[in-house]
Amino acid sequence: MHPCWCPLFFRRLLSFTTENGFVREGWSVPLLAPALFVHSVMRIEKDRFFFRECNKKRQKDMDNQKTVLVTGGCGFIGANFVRLLNQEKRSWRLINLDKLTYAGNLQNLAGIEEGENYRFVKGDIGDVVLLESLFTEERIDIVVHFAAESHVDRSITGPADFIRTNIVGTFTLLEAARNAWMDDSSRVDAPLFLHVSTDEVYGSLGETGFFSETTPFDPRSPYSASKASSDHLVSAYYHTYGLPTIITNCSNNYGPYQFPEKLIPLIFNNAMQGKKLPVYGDGKNIRDWLYVVDHCQAIVAVLEKGRPGRRYNIGGNNEKQNKDVVRLICDTLDRKVGLLPNGRPRTELITFVSDRLGHDRRYAIDATRISEELGWQPAISFEKGIEKTIDWYLDNREWVAAVVDGSYRDYYRDMYENR
Ligand code: NAD
Ligand code: DAU
Repeated sequence: MHPCWCPLFFRRLLSFTTENGFVREGWSVPLLAPALFVHSVMRIEKDRFFFRECNKKRQKDMDNQKTVLVTGGCGFIGANFVRLLNQEKRSWRLINLDKLTYAGNLQNLAGIEEGENYRFVKGDIGDVVLLESLFTEERIDIVVHFAAESHVDRSITGPADFIRTNIVGTFTLLEAARNAWMDDSSRVDAPLFLHVSTDEVYGSLGETGFFSETTPFDPRSPYSASKASSDHLVSAYYHTYGLPTIITNCSNNYGPYQFPEKLIPLIFNNAMQGKKLPVYGDGKNIRDWLYVVDHCQAIVAVLEKGRPGRRYNIGGNNEKQNKDVVRLICDTLDRKVGLLPNGRPRTELITFVSDRLGHDRRYAIDATRISEELGWQPAISFEKGIEKTIDWYLDNREWVAAVVDGSYRDYYRDMYENR
């Protein structure tokens, strides 16, 4: 037989008879399915090998030039983190990708100019095309993923955005990182995907005990369930594809630039205006408070020394009942700005209101791992942190006013759309 007949011969050989007696010819399902399977297994093995090699090469070279994609850098913690890196890692280029939802405020980064070391991109972590072009343009070395819907009360009244951003958005970002990093054999340093998560994935504690990194997940609000899902996805990308990921699970943050829907800035704002101070339930729910800059320092320590595939709990070792936090804010304000106009202390504004649905009772972090492995400890005590925080809010009353009246949203239009 002439060799040019070979393909036809093989095609005939691969023919098979379907259940209803028809003869089907061609490169059909029986061959194609195993071929696709083998192809995808080979691709996954290639990814795993590549990332293993990268991690071996991972040096303690964090002072070298790096390009870091920060998602959600206009939010509370993201903005504090961008500010910290802008001071401490002068050679790094930061790309801040933020959708500017209600929680994103460009004024949080006022004073940080766009240029060689900083670029702001308004966009959604769920936008596949945007992510692909960002990873291509910027040769990103590190992703620090803050972007999320973050407020538990909003997740109770409207969970859909939490599913979209926290789960689907994180998935989209993971895929973009995998696609960009996988075939890039010219890369010298190992890339890293750091996923910023919460202690709320572990659920609610009784009167004793702590959350460790091995505590089983037991999320109880749509917010914490969406964060737990994203943690699982990140972990799956490490185990399946070898994508170098690290997860951090942190307790309640407080400090400058926190949106005044969260307990501490909300109480500050209401107490300044002589409004009622809403305390949910009996006010005895416990949170483990950490000053936001300590959290950001912990993330830097994890970037520098953390081990891919690992999870690190971050906490303040500082448990407080909500009613005590609210009282402390009242007393501090009375001391700093004087009593209410009627001469009464601000604690008289405290009002117990109906409880949050599914309200977690107590969170408390065991941060032994990050302390022993990476040498991180919180530097700011709660008493000092609250003083600093209240001073910041007092000095930045226009920031609070602009957020409360919504005019902070004009900033983007003024800065970018009318240029
Ligand atoms: P935040 O709500 O203040 O900020 C979230 C930021 O993400 C905003 O700038 C918002 O515009 C942006 N964003 C939202 N959806 C986006 C999307 N689809 N695409 C791009 N950007 C988007 O939140 P935060 O309090 O700063 O928390 C940041 C991260 O840290 C979250 O992942 C949160 O789960 C986690 N965390 C928060 C705390 C805390 O106490 N606040 C504690 C532990 C972990
Ligand atoms: O534990 C980490 C989590 O901390 C983060 O993952 C979340 O993104 C962050 O929002 C925060 O969640 P909380 O629900 O703990 O924070 P929040 O400030 O909303 O509430 C703190 C506690 O105060 C909580 O027990 C509910 C209570 N509370 C809150 C508000 C807004 C009140 O009693 N009154 C209020 O008005």
